[in-house]
Parts: sequence; structure tokens; C-alpha cells
Amino acid sequence: MNYDQIFDAAIDRLHSEGRYRVFIDILRNKGAYPNARCFAGHNGPKPITVWCSNDYLAMGQHPKVIAAMEEALHDVGAGSGGTRNIGGNTHYHIQLEEELADLHGKQGALLFTSGYVSNDATLSTLAKILPGCVIFSDELNHASMIAGIRNSGAEKKVFRHNDVEHLEELLKETDPNVPKLVAFESVYSMDGDIAPIHEICDLAEKYNALTYIDEVHAVGMYGQRGGGITDRDNAAHRIDIIEGTLGKAFGVMGGYIAADKRIVDVIRSYAPGFIFTTSLSPVLVAGVLASVRHLKASSVERDGQQAAAAGLKAMMREAGLPVMNSTTHIVPLMVGDPVKAKKISDILLAEYGVYVQPINFPTVPRGTERLRFTPGPQHTEAMMRDLTSALVEIWDRLELKLAA
Ligand SMILES: Cc1ncc(COP(=O)(O)O)c(C=O)c1O
Repeated sequence: MNYDQIFDAAIDRLHSEGRYRVFIDILRNKGAYPNARCFAGHNGPKPITVWCSNDYLAMGQHPKVIAAMEEALHDVGAGSGGTRNIGGNTHYHIQLEEELADLHGKQGALLFTSGYVSNDATLSTLAKILPGCVIFSDELNHASMIAGIRNSGAEKKVFRHNDVEHLEELLKETDPNVPKLVAFESVYSMDGDIAPIHEICDLAEKYNALTYIDEVHAVGMYGQRGGGITDRDNAAHRIDIIEGTLGKAFGVMGGYIAADKRIVDVIRSYAPGFIFTTSLSPVLVAGVLASVRHLKASSVERDGQQAAAAGLKAMMREAGLPVMNSTTHIVPLMVGDPVKAKKISDILLAEYGVYVQPINFPTVPRGTERLRFTPGPQHTEAMMRDLTSALVEIWDRLELKLAA
């Protein structure tokens, strides 16, 4: 058995499809976001502008967040010291769970080490607890939800993206006596569209199904207090389990679910991904706590971000660039070819000091490779103008089509 040959062949396949992933080597400049330094392939750090961070509101550099983390570090030290069961159940964790339950108007919340883990652990555990459970999953659900559903061993029925008629067909044909769970996202992060939440909840009520929503790209970003699209659209009370991340708009790290006390207790008691791992560092939790509290009270960051996204979309459209039909803060630009998407990203970095990562399969379907921009409140109009004219120049150079 030639193991090396097998590994080399696996990597060669990625190269030949143009989707071998290269990770950039950067440091962000605290207090000067979106400015950063890039270390790879240059003589010394090169100044760059970041256009693809999911720290959407720059809360990862907010003075309140930094101060809270410094205070926690000096008060209790670096790590939690154990699992939640053994030594790692700190007062910070308990306070943050209360804060998140309140954010979503739920009885309880449960922290995980990431959004990925929260989806995987919760979905796999739920469907094991419910005998014969059938899971109805949107076809564009994130890899972590797909992993959780697969790990549950439950039967999965995939409905076409945001297609409530198809969802109803699948619900109708399923035995009315088996437990059912509809799993979907609020904001789909690669297209920037939003699920028809109320219509899905109507169907869930009609067919007596539980509902599970991933609000990873919406928490902190939408609603009066940053509770996500379910907060904005007054739908949180209709959803059984809301899942979110603490690593995107909240700017730090971690994941969670919010639900009624009974569901939280079941996941807490049965999910290996919650039980058998060291809990989040209290330093991180203290930072998140400051971030969630700040975004509950302040809309300044959300408003600035929405204005920046609308401004960039309008500018790109005006220039004839193929901006996709996003209704959210995400600005995806269709390229449709993995090699060209990578090439554009490389030119932007090397010649314009612009960092935007190409998005390839399996994150998006083949043939829909794209660049995904996430302007924040700190991206200025001048930066957007420079970016747009750089893109037009590159589109021209690579003989890609601009709209007339
Ligand atoms: C829709 C969705 N859910 C879950 C996750 C995982 O969240 P985290 O990055 O906190 O692990 C992501 C990450 O990008 C995501 O896009």
C-alpha cells in the first residue's frame, strides 16, 4: 500500500479542479479595522484591506470587548480548567447563557465551543432522542447541520432551497405519527438571501414538526436587539431551537442554542459534543458577554454595516459587475469558474492590497464560484470606490463580462 501516493493524488485532484485552498497569513491592526498586515510572499508585512471577514461589525476590536477580556484574564487566568461537568462551569458561562436566552426570548441557552459544534451536537442528539425522527433539511444548509443530521442516523428529506411547497410535499408524504424536525437557516451566507420563516413555521405547526433555525449570519446583525431575523420578523417564539455563533457579528468565538428549558436540559445531558470537551475560555466568554450586551443596546454598528453593504452593492451594480441578488449584508460577486475566482483574488491581493477569499465547491455548487464581500461600518466610501475600479480593471483584463 503506497499511502503517500494516495495522499498526493487526493491533493492533486484539488489542484486540477482549481480548488486547492490557500490560507492567507495576516494580522489585523487593532483599532484600525479593516486594515491588516499580510506576511506571505512579500518582503516584510504588506498593508492590506480586509473585505471578507465575518467579524461583520468589528466587535472583535471593540474597546468594551477588549477591556472585558483583559479584565477576565487578569481576574481568573487563561483557561476554564475543564469540561462544564468537571471544573469548567464558570460564572461567566452561566451569565452568558442567561444573556443569550434573554436575547432570543427563550427559557434557556447552552454554550458550545463553536457554531459548528453546536449544530453538530444538537442536531445529532435531538434526532437520536426522538425515536424514528425524520429531518427536513434545506438543500443549502451549512456543512455543520449536514454533519449533525448524518451523525444522528435519522432519515433525512432535503427540500429545495427556501421552497415551502416542496417542504409541504415532503411533510405530507411522511407518516403523521413520527417525530419531525425542520432544519434551516435564516440568512444563507453565500447567497445573502433569507428563509421564509413564518411560512415554514406555519407548515411545522400544521404537520406538528419541531423547528431548528441556524441564525449564525444574523445574530447581532438584525432585530432591535440583535436577536437575528427571528427577532426582526417577530418569529422567535415560533421556533423551537435557535442556534447562533459568537464568532461572527459578536466578534469572538463559540456557539450556542437557545430553546425552552426542557430541550436545553436534554442536549446538556446527552450531547457528547457538549459534555466531553473543555469549555470555552472564560476570557472569550467575558468578551462575548460584553459584545452581546453592547449590541442589545446599540444599533449604530448594525446601521453602519447595512449602509456600507447597500453602498457597495449599488456601486458594483453601477459599474456593471455581476453582484448577486442578496437581500442582506452579504455582497457576493458571481464569477462561475474556480480558476478565475482564485486569479481575481490573487491579483487583488498582489496589486491592490485587497484581501477577499475566493469561494469554491463544496462551499458553493460547482459553476457558481464567487467572491464574497462583507463590508463593515469601517469600510469608507473611498475604499469602496477603489475596490470597484480595481474589480472593473481586472474583469477587463481577464476578459470577463460586464453588464452594459
Ligand atoms: C451557516 C453556518 N452555520 C454554522 C457555522 C459554524 O459557525 P462557527 O464558525 O462558529 O463554527 C457557519 C460558519 O461559517 C455557518 O456559515
